[in-house]
Amino acid sequence: MNNMINLVNENLEKYMEIVYPEDLFKSMRYTVLLPGKRLRPVMCLETCRMKGGNIEDAMPTACAIEMLHAQTLIHDDLPCMDNDDYRRGKLSNHKVFGEAVAVLAGDALLTFAPQVIAKFSQNLSPQTVLRVLNEYFTYAGAYGVIAGQVIDIESEKGNVSGDKKSVLEYIHTHKTADLFKLSMRTGAIIAGEDDLEDVTQFAQTLGFAFQIADDILDEISTFEEMGKTIGKDKTAEKLTYVSLYGLDNAKCKLACLLDECYDKIQESRIFKEIIDGIKKRVGI
Ligand code: IPE
Ligand code: IPE
Ligand code: MG
Ligand code: MG
Ligand code: MG
Repeated sequence: MNNMINLVNENLEKYMEIVYPEDLFKSMRYTVLLPGKRLRPVMCLETCRMKGGNIEDAMPTACAIEMLHAQTLIHDDLPCMDNDDYRRGKLSNHKVFGEAVAVLAGDALLTFAPQVIAKFSQNLSPQTVLRVLNEYFTYAGAYGVIAGQVIDIESEKGNVSGDKKSVLEYIHTHKTADLFKLSMRTGAIIAGEDDLEDVTQFAQTLGFAFQIADDILDEISTFEEMGKTIGKDKTAEKLTYVSLYGLDNAKCKLACLLDECYDKIQESRIFKEIIDGIKKRVGI
């Protein structure tokens, strides 16, 4: 996994050259290049490999997904959203560059990322690039992560219309599992796979589990461990797995979902590492 992370880091750096206006590019690079876990690009590359593809062919897409992920983090931390001063162990983007540039850097990343796919995927057929871009726009936009973030914010302070259980399912599915689906589906598409049913189902379960883990860690972890402020979900009265079902039930559900993923992915050392990493952080 470390090899793949290093390759992703090298390529992210390569794609994001600083040009004028420098503040914009510095702000874009700042959050992207801070040391995140790089789970989504690794999932994209590993799915491509598992399906018989060449990981170099998936590199522009893998890096684009990390850029998109960084965009969601920059905007998620803004005062009008989760109002978080720290991200990836450092001050969050708006704390360093100011809110206006942080908003614009997020906007820029949202369009810069698919351009990286279009510009650097010479090894792929035009049809494949089009399929990959269509996936990007589906999961990055109003049918995907943005929809999840809107409902996440709207459902603060018990302000939920409808059944809380299904609203929470909607939030986790879109704000988190959708980028996992994007990562695995594009990896499979680049490898030439037509049937995306299994990878989609797997990514939905793992992404859902990942957000439950994040909700648990917001309650039990530390700033040093997570690199972001802890306890914010409770203060903001977010609808989370922990607030709805309690810590023990959340851990139980998480363990169940991760076991399900583990059983389905016997052939991948890297996915096992990802699952073990989540278990270790949560202590289950
Ligand atoms: C944070 O994702 C946002 C959530 C979906 C919970 P990660 O925990 O993957 O963040 P990085 O990339 O390692 O910083
Ligand atoms: C994040 O959910 C999902 C996205 C950024 C799209 P959270 O708001 O729980 O993520 P953290 O805890 O700030 O990383
Ligand atoms: Mg949030
Ligand atoms: Mg947040
Ligand atoms: Mg969180």
